Amino acid sequence: MKKMNLVVLAALGMTVLTGSVLADEATGDEALNRANKVVERREAVMGLMGWSAGPMVGMIKEQTPYDAGAFTRQARRMAALSEMVDDLFKADVRQFDLHTEAKPELWDEYDDFAKLAQDLVDSSKSLVVASEAGDLDVARKAFTAVADDCKACHDKYKEDDH
Ligand code: HEC
Repeated sequence: MKKMNLVVLAALGMTVLTGSVLADEATGDEALNRANKVVERREAVMGLMGWSAGPMVGMIKEQTPYDAGAFTRQARRMAALSEMVDDLFKADVRQFDLHTEAKPELWDEYDDFAKLAQDLVDSSKSLVVASEAGDLDVARKAFTAVADDCKACHDKYKEDDH
């Protein structure tokens, strides 16, 4: 029964992928392919971070009408995504030639990176609570703390956009 489940999961592409699996078992093109997926997943989640922030930024700048429910929904999405950052970035795939904007020193200073990721978990949770008050000024203040946490990590560990 256990085996069956693993076969089904594998068929769905849900293979367990950790740093050690990458390093120990995969070779050649398969390893490169897996490493590429790791990076794509990181970038996808970061892209969704931006996507979840967008409507909140619009409301904060009063470019779109404030909708407390919509704001809170985006804040919850961001909080959920922020929980994934540490796990997603753990694997060190620097040995592969991949297009990434992550700076290589991220993995020399992983504890510091993980701390910055945790700061975002904390500030985005506070944002959810603040947004539930239904007051744009309160939400704006909490959002500023989140944006500072995005920036703190990007300044250290993300290459500038080219
Ligand atoms: C703990 C570090 C960290 C935090 C916090 C963080 N990011 Fe990132 N972000 C990165 C790194 C590293 C990259 C580069 C990833 C890559 O190219 O492999 C990145 C890339 C991005 C990208 C580009 C994605 C792409 O398509 O290549 C966006 C957009 C982004 N982040 C938005 C955000 C937003 C919005 C927040 C805050 C809500 C945030 N990030 C918080 C580290 C962080």
